[in-house]
Amino acid sequence: MAAVKNTAKTFKLNSGDSIPGIGLGTWQSKPGQVEKAVEAAPRAGYRHIDTAFAYGNEKEVGEGIRASGVPREEIWLTTKLDNPWHKRVAEGIDQSLKNLGTSYVDLYLMHWPCSLDPDHEGKAYVDWDFVDTWREMQKLVGTGKVRNIGVSNFGIKNLEKLLNDPSCKIVPAVNQIELHPGNPSPKLVAYNNTHGIHTSGYSPLGSSDSPLYSNETINAIAKAKGRTPQQILLVWGLQKGWSVLPKSVTTSRVEANYDLDGWSLSDDEVAKIDAIPDRFKVCQDGWLPVTVFYGDDE
Ligand SMILES: NC(=O)c1ccc[n+]([C@@H]2O[C@H](COP(=O)([O-])OP(=O)(O)OC[C@H]3O[C@@H](n4cnc5c(N)ncnc54)[C@H](OP(=O)(O)O)[C@@H]3O)[C@@H](O)[C@H]2O)c1
Repeated sequence: MAAVKNTAKTFKLNSGDSIPGIGLGTWQSKPGQVEKAVEAAPRAGYRHIDTAFAYGNEKEVGEGIRASGVPREEIWLTTKLDNPWHKRVAEGIDQSLKNLGTSYVDLYLMHWPCSLDPDHEGKAYVDWDFVDTWREMQKLVGTGKVRNIGVSNFGIKNLEKLLNDPSCKIVPAVNQIELHPGNPSPKLVAYNNTHGIHTSGYSPLGSSDSPLYSNETINAIAKAKGRTPQQILLVWGLQKGWSVLPKSVTTSRVEANYDLDGWSLSDDEVAKIDAIPDRFKVCQDGWLPVTVFYGDDE
């Protein structure tokens, strides 16, 4: 049997492009730290970096990619349209490209299905919503500035609304959602699959101070396989069929999180992780003026 190469795993998108299965996350990666982490990732083998305008670090992310020495075109770069930019999509992508110091991104996501009025802080527009934003995002395809467009934090209700609107001509290539054993979302993942939307899993390690690192099931499997809990969580996600976006600003962790080749989880081990009963969610919608999660993201 050929050796398992988890790091070579890619997923085919509905556009025909292939997204690398493991991407470095950069949320909460602080200035002065993120460039080093992004530089270390391609050197360790990563070919996918996930950022967002809202993270305030696009400039350093671009610098990190250039410092890595790996050519830009070999790296899958994702960024996201921020909520107060929904009526300014063309400006939003231009600003992100400028920050990143690149002429295109591989994937441009609508960060949240929430269109905020920048002139009235914290308030949603009354004459505009995410369907209007998607109409504008579709216009970016063919400009050379974005290779793919997608969404993030969309549950089934909002996806239905988007896909059923006559203005929706392009099915999102990706829905980036929170996915880890504490928030496995099987119905939403199945919905994405049925509609040809690739699922990308954010907070795959359970985010900062993850309770998963002390989970008995994860630790027992990690010990039995001579692996770290983080490596188990990442391979679980890849085997479930989604891409994973582990974040770290610690070079040794960036490297360890990519040391995933030559082994896999058995069906029994995957089933044990699937059966972990404890639920928690890293990203809620209480900070937004509109409901995003209707319990349909499970
Ligand atoms: N679309 C969205 O709305 C959305 C929301 C959340 C996240 N995301 C994306 O998904 C990415 C990942 O999610 P996340 O940042 O919430 O969390 P995560 O990747 O699940 O976990 C990151 C945390 O785990 C620690 N860590 C990483 N590797 C480790 C290791 N080998 N051993 C011990 N600790 C380790 C990191 O610490 P150090 O950094 O200190 O090493 C950090 O505290 C984000 O960075 C972002 O790109 C997207």
